[in-house]
Amino acid sequence: MKERNKTILAIETSCDDTCAAVVRNGKEVLSSVISSQIDLHKEFGGVVPEEASRMHIEKLSLVIDEALLKSGLELDDMDAIGVTYAPGLVGALLVGLNESKAIAYASGKPLVATHHIKSHIFANFIENDIDFPFVCLVASGGHTHLFEVRDYNDIRLRGQTLDDAIGEAYDKVARSLKLGYPGGPVIDKLAKEGDGSSIDFPKAWLSKDSYDFSFSGIKSAVLNYLNKMQMKNKEIVVADVCASFQSAVIEVLVKKTVSLARNTGIKRIAIGGGVSANSHLRKEMKELCKAENIEFFYPSMKYCTDNAAMVGVTAYHELLAGNTADLDVNAIATLVLNNEKQN
Ligand code: KG4
Ligand code: ZN
Repeated sequence: MKERNKTILAIETSCDDTCAAVVRNGKEVLSSVISSQIDLHKEFGGVVPEEASRMHIEKLSLVIDEALLKSGLELDDMDAIGVTYAPGLVGALLVGLNESKAIAYASGKPLVATHHIKSHIFANFIENDIDFPFVCLVASGGHTHLFEVRDYNDIRLRGQTLDDAIGEAYDKVARSLKLGYPGGPVIDKLAKEGDGSSIDFPKAWLSKDSYDFSFSGIKSAVLNYLNKMQMKNKEIVVADVCASFQSAVIEVLVKKTVSLARNTGIKRIAIGGGVSANSHLRKEMKELCKAENIEFFYPSMKYCTDNAAMVGVTAYHELLAGNTADLDVNAIATLVLNNEKQN
């Protein structure tokens, strides 16, 4: 349909990646540029919020220019400006939001404010055609959420972490093993050489049928294990620690996600967020879904971690639903995504 043809300039600065993309009709990624700050934050073993904001200010205009250039289009060709306004580091979000407001105001284009977690879910739409409903696990550095996705604007939160996010647990365990930041990719790699059943780390199932998660216990258990081994002067096999930690946390993530699908009769599962790049998670989810006759969808690596292409997808659907933002919209650090329709 002609009126649904929309090209969006999308901007994402919620954490430590400065991103811009041009996306057509919520699917076709004409360009996606990411300027990573990993080298900056590596030194400190994690994201330093003030440094993240400063770097976003330095890089954002260049990243936007590059995204437009690579798309072969100009600002004039855009139908809207999409931007992440929540949740995230508030100073970091404000950089993207203020720049987007300025562009929207100067160009007279509508501004669309998008939810970061929704964008991690919608990253799945770029490369897949997924019918509703589906279950989606969003597992990232700041979030671990389990959703029942009934429609673009009917997303029901069914479970979430009660303490640390899964990516945070990966990063903290990597830090205690002196593996650097971010911890996920390096633990994922080392775990392949280790024995996942060698150390019995606790799995937090919580109450029966609970879809919530808890990762602070296993994080402490890994620390206790390392201290105990050091005190006894025993050798620590880093690959075994990585494999055992990973196998425990992934088992909980996979089984809870599949059990939500089973209990709701939903036959599709998708994953999103930085931790959905994890090779063990993908493999285990694929196998269990196959056994349960559930279709499994996942974004390619570049759309798992933070990027603006996924923001362009979300902004498209918000735009079609008439959800544009006023120029006084503010950034919000914590904002739960739960658009359950009230019947
Ligand atoms: O989605 P993301 O880029 O940023 C947030 O919104 O948080 O996720 C970053 C997180 C980090 O904690 C990083 O360690 C984790 O994703 N991560 C992984 C892998 N790649 C990135 N965790 C496990 N396995 C991976 N392969
Ligand atoms: Zn993210």
